[in-house]
Amino acid sequence: MYILGISCFYHDASAALLKDGKIVAAAQEERFTRKKHDTSFPEKAIEYCLKSQNITINEIDYIGFYEKPLLKFERILYQHLESFPKSYKTFLSSMPSWINEKLRVIKLIKKKLKYKKDVLFIEHHMAHAASFLISPFKKAAILTIDGVGEWTTTSLGIGENENIKLFKEIQFPSSIGLLYSTITAYLGFSVNNSEYKVMGLAPYGNMDKNTNPYYHVLKKVIDIRDDGSYHLNMSYFTYHYKNRMPSKKLCQLLGGFIRKPESEVTERHKDIAAALQLITEEIIIKILNYIQKITNCQNIVLSGGVALNSVANGKILRNTSFKNIWIQPDPGDGGTSIGVSIYIYNTILGNKRVYQLDNPYLGPKFSNEEIREFLDKNEIKYNEFKREKEMIKEVAKMIFNNQVIGWFQDGMEWGPRALGARSILSNPCNPEMKEIINLKVKHREKFRPFAPVVCEDDALNYFDCDKPIPLPTDFMLMVYPIKKKYHKKMPAVTHIDGSGRLQTIRKFQNPIYYNLIKEFGKLSKIPILINTSFNIRGEPIVCTPYDAYKCMMGTGIDYLIMDKFIIKREENFRDIWDSEKYAKD
Ligand SMILES: [Fe+2]
Repeated sequence: MYILGISCFYHDASAALLKDGKIVAAAQEERFTRKKHDTSFPEKAIEYCLKSQNITINEIDYIGFYEKPLLKFERILYQHLESFPKSYKTFLSSMPSWINEKLRVIKLIKKKLKYKKDVLFIEHHMAHAASFLISPFKKAAILTIDGVGEWTTTSLGIGENENIKLFKEIQFPSSIGLLYSTITAYLGFSVNNSEYKVMGLAPYGNMDKNTNPYYHVLKKVIDIRDDGSYHLNMSYFTYHYKNRMPSKKLCQLLGGFIRKPESEVTERHKDIAAALQLITEEIIIKILNYIQKITNCQNIVLSGGVALNSVANGKILRNTSFKNIWIQPDPGDGGTSIGVSIYIYNTILGNKRVYQLDNPYLGPKFSNEEIREFLDKNEIKYNEFKREKEMIKEVAKMIFNNQVIGWFQDGMEWGPRALGARSILSNPCNPEMKEIINLKVKHREKFRPFAPVVCEDDALNYFDCDKPIPLPTDFMLMVYPIKKKYHKKMPAVTHIDGSGRLQTIRKFQNPIYYNLIKEFGKLSKIPILINTSFNIRGEPIVCTPYDAYKCMMGTGIDYLIMDKFIIKREENFRDIWDSEKYAKD
């Protein structure tokens, strides 16, 4: 039985294909269209899913959609009516997409895909909560937190075997996700894109709630109760009737104008980011303690966009009574295409659970022959390693010698993080490496850290991880303190507060990546690499050999390793725009 899950029209459109209860393919549309956070109908991601199994749309038994559009429309109407006439302009501007696309999803899916069978609609937070069904747990408490679904912004539940029950929720307009996005906008970063930058900025500010002046100021906009439920004072916000998020009153409260993008980040901005992070962590921990008490579960599954807050995630097990935590590689809206497909299979159709997502490499892969054909066709000079062992030794040496490597292997990662299939790898021990990568490739804000990857069996030597090491670390969703004695030994991945957003890798997941890290460790005595996403600022992570080659040519990446092929940048240097004329593979 095949089930196709679809998520689109809000942010991060994606598609996922389930075969007999197992996810066999999943990808975000942005990777194919090369438009970051692409929201459009995921035609290309669907095409990939079908092609990966060599099937046609007629062989799909069910299609699932990640929300209930009518219910969401009801909320949109209600929120605009309630704020009328202030909402008039936003209402008018939002209607065309509702009339042309969102309210006609069934017709649109059937027409675009020429599909004749059932399309099922699952409530948005249930599609998030369904991450439980691909977790390692038979029973777990569930917390979903995002900006907003239909009405829900936070839901609490419990999952057992094939069933999920959501028993409590917080509704729009109160939303931690939208509070985080509002402050993100106030700090001059883009909404639904740069919330993680605010999280990265927070430790530069005052993370002591007793002395951070903005902690108490921000508390005026949100009322947090002992069970973690919360209520926003909407006079500080405008997102319920306008496209602009912070109100004038909020700007006055925070003592200044909205920061202009790319302008200086001041101490005040850093303290506001810190206060927001403190409040977010406080709410999450309070809600989790409440759910733990009433469910008495040892396991927790987290989902929704706020579950990308890896700093908060890293504090959960040490501040609650939960013993184990699970977060799928894409807890945001992109991940709901997997959620709907597995929910239909297990919960609606009542089939037994047979799958646990422990390997994120669900995207397109390219064989040795396909890559060779691409290189030959485009007259790109390359060498090929005969053996994998030889390649690993050579690449480890290059990284040790401070070369920046574009690493392209196997199937593309599922979710927003590069996890060793489409990664840029380099030496974490070089104190200048952060600057080198920023200068050569990423052009990021200076305050943003680079992330470390470590083999799971070495992680506890270098990081103060929870024990046993939780699975979300495999997907770079947890931040942990780096042991103090290593701060100076791996300066390029040690954040200002001594933490690292680590990826752990288990050998079975990606043996070649695992072996490369170990080999680098033999040379450097630190078995850790910088792992950052293979893209330039503002673009999605690369998907195809063409994308990878183009990215290398447009940046200062020194070597591209694709399967066993090695391509040196200088030898092939051509102007980046010339590469546009190369045939796409
Ligand atoms: Fe969501």
